[in-house]
Amino acid sequence: MILVTGSAGFIGSNFVLDWCALHDEPVLSLDKLTYAGNLENLASLQANLRHSFVQGDIGDAELVARLLSEHRPRAVINFAAESHVDRSIHGPEDFIQTNIVGTFHLLEAVRAYWGELPDAEKSAFRFLHVSTDEVYGSLAKDEPAFTETHRYEPNSPYSASKAASDHLVRAYHHTYGLPVLTTNCSNNYGPYHFPEKLIPLLIVNALAGKALPVYGDGQQIRDWLYVKDHCSAIRCVLEKGRLGEVYNVGGWNEKANLDIVHIVCDLLDELRPRAAVQPAIFNFQSSSYRSLITFVTDRPGHDRRYAIDARKIERELGWKPAETFETGIRKTVQWYLDNQGWVSNVLSGNYRQWVEKQYGE
Ligand code: NAD
Ligand code: TYD
Repeated sequence: MILVTGSAGFIGSNFVLDWCALHDEPVLSLDKLTYAGNLENLASLQANLRHSFVQGDIGDAELVARLLSEHRPRAVINFAAESHVDRSIHGPEDFIQTNIVGTFHLLEAVRAYWGELPDAEKSAFRFLHVSTDEVYGSLAKDEPAFTETHRYEPNSPYSASKAASDHLVRAYHHTYGLPVLTTNCSNNYGPYHFPEKLIPLLIVNALAGKALPVYGDGQQIRDWLYVKDHCSAIRCVLEKGRLGEVYNVGGWNEKANLDIVHIVCDLLDELRPRAAVQPAIFNFQSSSYRSLITFVTDRPGHDRRYAIDARKIERELGWKPAETFETGIRKTVQWYLDNQGWVSNVLSGNYRQWVEKQYGE
């Protein structure tokens, strides 16, 4: 079986759902259920006996040690983190606690467990750490994309805390021989993305007739990858990755934020025209959601450009993204249109009571 941390968040829940659809191997989910953790994401696994969920903190060494010794996973995949750059600017402490101190305690518990395993299990064991391209800092417009050997230059408390966790993971391999793998991925988008991040925020605000906030001049560039492609890359690295190695994961898809905003507006214009959603205001305003675009004060220290060179994972492990941005963003917008109940539970805060409501306890 595998242990997946942060499994009620955006990428972790997509990973667990895909894993359970593709494999018979059981999954133990561990998640603290912070504001970003939503058990409703895993609702479809409720009756699946191969999936079990434990609410808890990766920094709780006693709990993690007990889970490891009781369930004896052959791999730990660590998604658990505080992940929102803007929140890290307003309050960095949680980022230090979970991303650095939490990862340290998790590594210690895993090291103790791994050290006691019989030889065959010991050499088959993997600790896969999920990280971000933001650890590499910001690129100028025509600089080459980040390779795995690019210098670490994190600029936000979020990326600095992720960088520190990457260094700890690396050190546990070099010092103790822990069989680790690290992936550094670009911006994800897709189902179950919490609507404080750019793409889901745009969809949710547009449908509500609210402003679409664009930081600064909107010319910051990100590489975007459909979340299911990130999950397939992680499965691929888990299966075939070389121990101690880092793999950059990306979509070969650099876009300026303002272009993303335009694409989302145009798709919504096609799939859910404003005239149908907001008939009362439709007569007085432009018919396109683009009229909701509002330029707002830039994020402090805003990184200008991220770009991923994903040739290593393709060359060594044969992984490539399956979706283009055009196919992935269409699926994403359609998912939000089809899952308005999920959105309203998140917006109302009801997702936090979802377990009590669902299970009556
Ligand atoms: P998310 O914020 O949606 O989910 C994080 C999950 O971790 C939540 O369910 C939360 O409850 C849980 N969590 C937080 N602190 C915890 C703790 N101390 N113990 C146990 N669980 C805890 O984040 P995400 O977008 O799904 O990102 C997952 C991972 O992928 C993160 O490590 C992030 O740095 C990395 N990543 C994200 C992106 C992206 O675009 N979202 C890109 C590259 C890498
Ligand atoms: P975000 O989704 O927060 O991801 P990250 O900061 O990890 O890249 O933001 C993506 C980009 O969109 C980033 O350059 C900031 C920008 N942005 C806006 O312009 N407006 C917004 O309201 C948000 C949330 C982000």
